[in-house]
Amino acid sequence: MRDAVVLVPAAGRGERLGPGAPKALRSLAGEPLLVHAVRRLVASQSVAQVVVAAPPQARDDVLHLLAPVIAPPALTVVPGGQTRQASVAAALAVVPDDIDIVLVHDAARALVPVELVDRVAAAVRAGHDAVIPVLPVVDTVKRVDAHGYVTGTVDRAPLRAVQTPQGFRHQVLRRAYHEVGESEQGQVTDDAGLVERLGIRVYTVPGSPHAMKITHPSDLQVAESLLTGVAG
Ligand code: C5P
Repeated sequence: MRDAVVLVPAAGRGERLGPGAPKALRSLAGEPLLVHAVRRLVASQSVAQVVVAAPPQARDDVLHLLAPVIAPPALTVVPGGQTRQASVAAALAVVPDDIDIVLVHDAARALVPVELVDRVAAAVRAGHDAVIPVLPVVDTVKRVDAHGYVTGTVDRAPLRAVQTPQGFRHQVLRRAYHEVGESEQGQVTDDAGLVERLGIRVYTVPGSPHAMKITHPSDLQVAESLLTGVAG
């Protein structure tokens, strides 16, 4: 059922990847990260429309790059903002009122499996207001002070690492973004964090190692071997 709109924040500079094009336009196996991500999103039977928050100067490039995958009116490209939160807010602003399910997916998670997109959308469709994919934390986690000394070991059993796409009932995400003040900009690192502040319960579904976020140059190498593994 194609009943969801996906917002794709893709306006980050990606400074941790080193100098070069905006992160979403960096190449992975010959194609920009954004193209990989959007191709997977539109392969989901849940996705009706895609809104990309692009680097403001790259709007036409993004339309051109995505043309083989999706084109207007199913695709809308808006200029992104200074923070991820501002980019998502800009994309959310153009979602039609009659849409019930909104997913938010980082372009940097270029190899998201189609099944994961479907799983998140299905959980929202089943009645959850907010849904996030998570993985157990496998490393031991410690608190460290400003001088580099360990001050404690955290019980990792209840901890989860959070991925995207995150899924929301449209009106819930609207309210969350409406009620967050300018002063709070940048203090939450995911969209579910805003929804939690409203006192709304967030449901978790299993994430995927393939939905890893590409942040550092070595992540590009890991993603490339995942891609070869997937293709081969
Ligand atoms: O920087 P980080 O890896 O946390 O960014 C996550 C996602 O948010 C990326 O897809 C990036 O392009 C996007 N982003 C954005 N606008 C910003 C900063 C990041 O759309 N100003």
